[in-house]
Amino acid sequence: MSLHSSASVKRITTHTLQEMKLRGEKISMLTAYDFSMAKIVDEAGMDILLVGDSASNVMAGHETTLPITLDQMIYHASAVVRAVKRAFVVVDIPFGNYQGNSSEALRSAIRIMKESGAHAVKVEGGAEIKESVLRILSAGVPVMGHLGLTPQSIYKFGTYTVRAREEEEAEKLIEDAKLLEACGCFALVLEKIPAALGKRVAEALAIPVIGIGAGGDVDGQVLVMHDLLGITQEFKPRFLRRYADLQKTMTEAFQNYIADVKSKDFPNSSESY
Ligand code: KIV
Repeated sequence: MSLHSSASVKRITTHTLQEMKLRGEKISMLTAYDFSMAKIVDEAGMDILLVGDSASNVMAGHETTLPITLDQMIYHASAVVRAVKRAFVVVDIPFGNYQGNSSEALRSAIRIMKESGAHAVKVEGGAEIKESVLRILSAGVPVMGHLGLTPQSIYKFGTYTVRAREEEEAEKLIEDAKLLEACGCFALVLEKIPAALGKRVAEALAIPVIGIGAGGDVDGQVLVMHDLLGITQEFKPRFLRRYADLQKTMTEAFQNYIADVKSKDFPNSSESY
């Protein structure tokens, strides 16, 4: 069965993503957290929308991803799902809602799928969350893995520097990647690792490997929307390419509006009833 939206747009599925890897077509993925932006991104042709727990940073202003709750993730995810006709929608299970307790992991994944209408969930970690991954998969919920820099463990690592530069950590990452694939994950995100390691993992796995700071030899790329648009100017990792300077554009628009209100230029007679 193929899945179609009401307007007959062919939806992206896990199967589509697998086929893209097989034919060497790169997968585009971007975060989204609300209806209006998700609609624009979907209509632009993005393959995957990630309702990332980076919402904790860019939407709520927290320093880390840890504080965001399952209810808040479901709120963001349902807004994104309502906007999307074509893209595959993946939702992060937040910190504390899947680690260490596979029953809770399953409950969290089912709440996300049922209450938001999303298509898959994402979790951070390897061997240590194997039971949770298997339990979620057993309910038929597609799972995307996430290795390398895993922001939910930031207090364990202490820094946001590049991960797995040393051979021991690189070997553990490769083992974890193979384990997640063997469990049945449909795709894997690799964050902030050496490009050569990203290439090794992408070649070793049959499932799509999506990178953020993992070099160009993986199967696709993901960025945080606010970074790509230049709304978050203070965040400047080497891997980030900005495609717009919206902070400048928006500031100018807001300042022009303020000036027009103060000078009584707005509204004029054609903007009045
Ligand atoms: O939450 C998020 O935005 C993410 C991406 C950085 C992959 O997990």
